Amino acid sequence: MSKKILVLPGDGIGPEIVAEAVKVLEALRRDFGLAVELESGLLGGCAVDAHGQPYPEETRRLARAADAILLGAVGGPKWEAIERPLRPERGLLAIRADLELFANLRPAILYPQLAAASALKPEVVSGLDIMIVRELTGDIYFGQPRGIRTLDSGEREGFNTMVYRESEIVRIMRAAFDAAMKRDRRVCSVDKANVLEVSELWREIAQTVAADYPEVSLSHMYVDNAAMQLVRAPKQFDVIVTGNIFGDILSDCAAQLTGSIGMLPSASLDAHGKGMYEPIHGSAPDIAGRGVANPLATILSVAMLLRHTLNEPALAERIERAVGRVLDRGLRTADIASEGTTRVGTAEMGGAVVAA
Ligand code: NAI
Ligand code: MG
Repeated sequence: MSKKILVLPGDGIGPEIVAEAVKVLEALRRDFGLAVELESGLLGGCAVDAHGQPYPEETRRLARAADAILLGAVGGPKWEAIERPLRPERGLLAIRADLELFANLRPAILYPQLAAASALKPEVVSGLDIMIVRELTGDIYFGQPRGIRTLDSGEREGFNTMVYRESEIVRIMRAAFDAAMKRDRRVCSVDKANVLEVSELWREIAQTVAADYPEVSLSHMYVDNAAMQLVRAPKQFDVIVTGNIFGDILSDCAAQLTGSIGMLPSASLDAHGKGMYEPIHGSAPDIAGRGVANPLATILSVAMLLRHTLNEPALAERIERAVGRVLDRGLRTADIASEGTTRVGTAEMGGAVVAA
């Protein structure tokens, strides 16, 4: 039976990069019989312009009916002045919450061809291939109570609540261990159990879930040390699993180890294999409309879609190998260009991946 993929190009460079990812999906459909149906919809600023809301009802209906969603990026200066609830970025939060996309998978891979892009020494990062699994719908970003209150003394105080329920920890742990089963079978759970009760529970449940995965080894690390280790010796990790706020910070840090924001895909999964797939970068308004954006992060997001929702690991690897081959040939968009390489635009890069 054919699977439904909802394509949400979004704003800025979104439509340009998503067009290349769609070319790849269409090639897989044509040449390898991949059974997918594509639909498209509006999310973000384009949806605000058309419907007055960043996550309109029509998009909600399509998103709920889809098996997977491929997203470009949302936002831009055009919508910065409008009131908060109508900002494009709110559309992103709304769709994640609506679909309960609680598991954010962010690989940080350094392609050997791009080793010069990293700020770290080549021997520290060459061959880097780690996966951060960040919980996305809980923690201090959503915990109640929250607010700013005035104390009896007249001084004000701001407060948020870090909170995780057992069931929320169990499902993110399962997502991490499932990811590890497809990789090197090592999970490092990152917390602050020396200080926080919520981390104490986190650690206990990590241990319980680990018992169901005897092939996977589990270790624990405090978040401050994890930040240090990511920069000192990132290759020691396979899968890192952590809560929403620690994961927000560590995943950006890990992305930067590779030095190329235009290369990194991500997945946000629910409990039933449905997922939203998108590059980690934003809508890059500074280069939008010029045909120079790097489409590889979005194309690699399609590979994650094939692996995690469509259960087509061989086709996922085919895409990843094609990207490697295109880099071997020396083709580079501006963001990853270096001396002696061939500068190409967005469409040429996408076309080269399809050909490879
Ligand atoms: P950004 O990721 O859009 O851009 C940062 C820098 O990286 C820019 O110089 C940009 O040109 C470059 N860049 C990003 N993607 C690239 C690509 N594929 N190829 C070549 N260069 C690329 O982050 P920024 O500038 O902070 O945000 C711009 C807008 O995007 C804002 O409205 C922001 O809210 C939104 N945003 C949306 C996200 C999403 O949809 N998931 C994530 C992050 C930001
Ligand atoms: Mg962030």
